[in-house]
Amino acid sequence: MIDFPCALQDNYYMHADYRTSKVIDVFADVDSHRVTAAIIKKHSTNRCDIREVALEGLDLSGCVEILELGCGFGFFTESLKGKLPPNAHITGIDIVEGYASAFMEACNRAGINGRFIPADVSVIHDFGDRLFNLVISSYSLYFFPHIVGEISRILNANGVFVATVHNSHSMKELVGFARDVLIENGMISRGTKLHIESIISSFSSYNGYEILKPWFRDIQRKKYENTLVFKPGDIYSLIEYFRFKWPFFLSAIPVEDVARAFDLFEIHLQKYFNMSRNGFAVTKDDTVFLCSEPIERK
Ligand SMILES: C[S@@+](CC[C@H](N)C(=O)[O-])C[C@H]1O[C@@H](n2cnc3c(N)ncnc32)[C@H](O)[C@@H]1O
Repeated sequence: MIDFPCALQDNYYMHADYRTSKVIDVFADVDSHRVTAAIIKKHSTNRCDIREVALEGLDLSGCVEILELGCGFGFFTESLKGKLPPNAHITGIDIVEGYASAFMEACNRAGINGRFIPADVSVIHDFGDRLFNLVISSYSLYFFPHIVGEISRILNANGVFVATVHNSHSMKELVGFARDVLIENGMISRGTKLHIESIISSFSSYNGYEILKPWFRDIQRKKYENTLVFKPGDIYSLIEYFRFKWPFFLSAIPVEDVARAFDLFEIHLQKYFNMSRNGFAVTKDDTVFLCSEPIERK
């Protein structure tokens, strides 16, 4: 059994299949994911790349076997460029096969030998103990927090696990906006949790330490403060950003209401933008967890 806070277990396991299907719904659209990543980059107040921040100060010169979980395009892998020994080898795992070529291109740009495994992260159950020097995951651990014990098992004694996740209040403006629209239009009741809130809270700045603690002796945190600012002329970028993520926002509503809900959201956002001088700001504070000294369990 996985060591995992009880309150989260129900939330997580009850919806495992549902969560996986939503992940595939959203991330299978590789082109939209790329556009969304560019929107986030363009509208971020924090100009530093979080992966660079995460790796700053780490000596990775002895890391030969590396694993990236939920790798997507391999942005985290690319930020390892110049930090690893020449014989380093990286494995990227993502449930969406469509990221294979982008990930391999990222490996090439970084000058690292790589391979891509199109699979759910649970595939690491088949990996031997203590194989990896470094495991990395950016913006994906909240989809599979149950795998933390396995990450600890496959890391060697000097191995490090580096993960970037959201803070618990991240995207609160967008969540609040979507919830208000859905409540006003009778699509959800007050108090209904949107799926995005369950995802973020599965592993966030708030509970991440507690989830990691049974598996690592040394856990460090780095704050990464950021806001996405959409100025009055940027409404279509915000709508595009929201459109990509919407299955995560609107999942609490009946299927027949989904298209109408998105239209309503767009109309309300348009009205908001027409009245606002400042546009719309979305809190996007994140946290980096750096975990070492994996705890060996029989
Ligand atoms: C928000 S994206 C982050 C991608 C990349 N790490 C980055 O920083 O750009 C989350 C990624 O995790 C992948 N993912 C989610 N759940 C997964 C699972 N159970 N097994 C493998 N990959 C998963 C998704 O397909 C998606 O590519």
